Amino acid sequence: MPGTGTQKVNIPTKKLDVLRYGYGLLPAACAGDELVRLTAAYDEMFASRAGHDRGDHYDLAGSNDETDRLSLPQIMTPHKYISFLTQSRLWVRCRDFANELLGTEAQFIEDHAILKPARYGSVTPWHQDEAYWDPGRRHITVNFWIPLQDATPESGCLHYIPGSHLWEVLEHQPIGNDPRTHGLELTDRGLHDAHLERARAVPCAAGDAVIHFPRSVHYAGPNLTDRDRRAYICSFGIPAETITSMRSFPWLERRKTLREQRAAATQS
Ligand code: NI
Repeated sequence: MPGTGTQKVNIPTKKLDVLRYGYGLLPAACAGDELVRLTAAYDEMFASRAGHDRGDHYDLAGSNDETDRLSLPQIMTPHKYISFLTQSRLWVRCRDFANELLGTEAQFIEDHAILKPARYGSVTPWHQDEAYWDPGRRHITVNFWIPLQDATPESGCLHYIPGSHLWEVLEHQPIGNDPRTHGLELTDRGLHDAHLERARAVPCAAGDAVIHFPRSVHYAGPNLTDRDRRAYICSFGIPAETITSMRSFPWLERRKTLREQRAAATQS
């Protein structure tokens, strides 16, 4: 599904506007020495394929991350591999922002890292983050996407559909409708051209945090530049409670990835 038609506009930075549009910017969330240190640790984490054997490192967009070159490498729980993250100013800033929006009980929920390799990194298709999560729980979070270098439409910055954070979770499928692929994409039934015409790009500087909510519909293009596009993503919010709704996410039930097989093998 194309990301064309995306326009640049003023990016919301005030909290009320972030709540209204469902996305926004927290400038310079990570800066100075901390940004330099995080970038070095991030590169080392991906170079060593940290957590591959237990399923923490895998390809979001490909179906065989054991033999193929990864087009969208992802590492789950990077704070396990970069220990200073939990004590970082970045975490404090993100938690403070979540506390102001959601209340003081907001706390760290999860983190991951997505690398979009130079000239090779593939599209992150339109999706809602909540489509990856347990449908039997209520998810109230603020998600922060922090590029470790400037992010532009050419390198794979995020794009949003304003107001989509207020929608239900729409129909998703594994990318390319291939159940061996971990990443998800909205189906044509969920997302229409009229929605895409309203999409907004959010180019930003290294260390800025782009903010969204679990249902904000977002996308990132391929990396057409000569530099890797590194992004660190963390969520702060209310610990997910079990809900009584009967909703189900069939796209999760039919997924069968090598990553899940590795994770199951190390847990058994
Ligand atoms: Ni996402």
